Amino acid sequence: MLTGFLLLSSALSVLPLSLAAEGGVEKNGSTCRVVPIGGGQDDGPNILSALKQCNNGGTIVLDSYYVVNTVLVTDLQDVNIELSGTLQYTPNIAYWSPNSLFLTYQNATTYWFLSGSNIHLYGGGTLDGNGQVWWDYPNATIGIAGGSSTDFARPIPLTVGNASNVLIEDLTEIGSPFWNNFVYQSTNVTYRNINISTVSYSTNPTINSDGWDIYRSSYVTIENSTVNNDDDCVSFKPNATNILIRDLNCLTGDGISVGSLGQYAGETDIVANITAINVNLTNSQNGARIKLFGSSPLANSTAGGGAGYVKNVTFSNFNVQNTEWPIIIDECFATPVSCSEYPTQLDVSDISFTNIAGTSSGTLGTMVVDLNCTSSCTNITATNIDLTSPAGNATYFCSNVTSSSLEFDCSGST
Ligand SMILES: *[C@@H]1O[C@H](CO)[C@@H](O)[C@H](O)[C@H]1NC(C)=O
Ligand SMILES: *[C@@H]1O[C@H](CO)[C@@H](O)[C@H](O)[C@H]1NC(C)=O
Ligand SMILES: *[C@@H]1O[C@H](CO)[C@@H](O)[C@H](O)[C@H]1NC(C)=O
Ligand SMILES: *[C@@H]1O[C@H](CO)[C@@H](O)[C@H](O)[C@H]1NC(C)=O
Ligand SMILES: *[C@@H]1O[C@H](CO)[C@@H](O)[C@H](O)[C@H]1NC(C)=O
Ligand SMILES: *[C@@H]1O[C@H](CO)[C@@H](O)[C@H](O)[C@H]1NC(C)=O
Ligand SMILES: *[C@@H]1O[C@H](CO)[C@@H](O)[C@H](O)[C@H]1NC(C)=O
Ligand SMILES: *[C@@H]1O[C@H](CO)[C@@H](O)[C@H](O)[C@H]1NC(C)=O
Ligand SMILES: *[C@@H]1O[C@H](CO)[C@@H](O)[C@H](O)[C@H]1NC(C)=O
Ligand SMILES: *[C@@H]1O[C@H](CO)[C@@H](O)[C@H](O)[C@H]1NC(C)=O
Ligand SMILES: *[C@@H]1O[C@H](CO)[C@@H](O)[C@H](O)[C@H]1NC(C)=O
Ligand SMILES: *[C@@H]1O[C@H](CO)[C@@H](O)[C@H](O)[C@H]1NC(C)=O
Repeated sequence: MLTGFLLLSSALSVLPLSLAAEGGVEKNGSTCRVVPIGGGQDDGPNILSALKQCNNGGTIVLDSYYVVNTVLVTDLQDVNIELSGTLQYTPNIAYWSPNSLFLTYQNATTYWFLSGSNIHLYGGGTLDGNGQVWWDYPNATIGIAGGSSTDFARPIPLTVGNASNVLIEDLTEIGSPFWNNFVYQSTNVTYRNINISTVSYSTNPTINSDGWDIYRSSYVTIENSTVNNDDDCVSFKPNATNILIRDLNCLTGDGISVGSLGQYAGETDIVANITAINVNLTNSQNGARIKLFGSSPLANSTAGGGAGYVKNVTFSNFNVQNTEWPIIIDECFATPVSCSEYPTQLDVSDISFTNIAGTSSGTLGTMVVDLNCTSSCTNITATNIDLTSPAGNATYFCSNVTSSSLEFDCSGST
């Protein structure tokens, strides 16, 4: 290590002195360590340089405090990234809004687009999205989802995009302006031991602070992680297939959610082969949820009208405490028109809720299960449901649930 540093120092000595004083990349064999510049200066270009110099078999070491004010678009092969320090994105709305990478779906943009294959990101360090300035910005909720415009876009701190064989473990993520993690057009991606905390310190709430969103991706595993936020813990977006999530602790957010789906007229959204097991949800709005848009009279609608299906989804071993909707299928999510007139165009089938225990919040009275289908939901299985409501004996609502095996009585419903 020392030898490498000395070698590099002497190499640098032929460069202008100011460059050495500005931090840089210490290269030792196939290891590239990024030395921060300090003084709030942008380490982004040096991080990009390290990822380039030690791509194809090397290790990039990020063991200090880094300030990043440069969009990171990285295409890597066989790389280890050891993040044991802190990588903090600048609170520079004027830079990031036009420069963060735009990702078609829901106007999302990202600070870091991590693509390629055989990538291992680990190290016990922290990704800091510096979200507070975004939540405190006037009219921060304008626009749709990411609200992307060149004036104001809230970027995602880490997108694994167009990637395969990626393992991300032992990291903390704080202050995400938008979704914490986006898995985008990728396959075989595993997250393990991730600690996510998206908490606002002002009276302005965090916005769209999902733990994970999975889109056009398959063979994704998320395990042994904690999410403290105000939105979905994990969200299975269009074309998330063959996904396993397990051993998650979700605090204060919106639950484990399939969807929303069917948002865009003319598109087909598929979510299939999902297993969610061993999940604790405390003070969450939802436990196990499926949310679909209704249809739309407009051919160009961005609030319903899409087609597709949800099939073979298992929610098991959930423990919910103080959760408004412990189990919910909502086929009229955020839909501006009447869903009885414009019912969803997605089919829901082969859904299993097994070993779901705990308490609702009681804000919806005694209802603990809400299977509210406007089009028919078929082959829904509910086994070993042990949910209570502080408002009285639990009740179960079902609408248009057919050919199903539900152990509770929802015969009073339509
Ligand atoms: C916020 O929205 C209000 C009402 O639409 C508008 O009058 C105001 O100019 C907006 N402020 C900013 C900073 O965009
Ligand atoms: C992006 O946002 C604009 C304006 O807020 C909206 O009209 C458009 O439909 C959004 N696009 C997507 C893909 O959601
Ligand atoms: C999935 O990725 C991991 C690396 O995270 C790799 O070890 C494994 O071989 C990959 N699996 C397949 C089927 O390619
Ligand atoms: C799961 O995460 C906890 C920290 O939350 C850690 O102590 C434990 O070692 C992890 N287990 C595994 C199998 O990685
Ligand atoms: C969920 O809660 C149970 C009971 O408190 C605990 O034994 C289990 O470890 C928790 N699981 C996770 C993933 O936090
Ligand atoms: C999802 O997959 C189906 C089948 O491959 C495809 O027709 C559809 O366009 C995809 N939808 C999205 C949103 O990528
Ligand atoms: C779901 O898994 C089954 C069984 O492995 C497979 O046949 C099917 O193609 C998968 N569905 C999707 C949409 O990937
Ligand atoms: C259902 O999905 C699981 C993965 O979650 C998969 O192992 C199983 O093969 C799928 N079953 C069918 C019938 O597609
Ligand atoms: C859809 O098209 C109508 C005209 O047919 C237009 O008025 C409206 O703004 C369009 N909406 C979107 C979301 O593009
Ligand atoms: C069911 O959905 C309809 C909209 O389609 C809504 O008006 C109604 O309040 C919902 N009922 C329950 C119990 O969720
Ligand atoms: C019903 O769904 C379960 C998965 O929840 C699946 O194993 C079973 O084969 C399905 N039954 C039918 C008749 O499709
Ligand atoms: C709650 O259920 C118990 C046992 O079935 C029954 O004795 C009691 O009358 C019920 N209470 C109310 C308020 O319905």
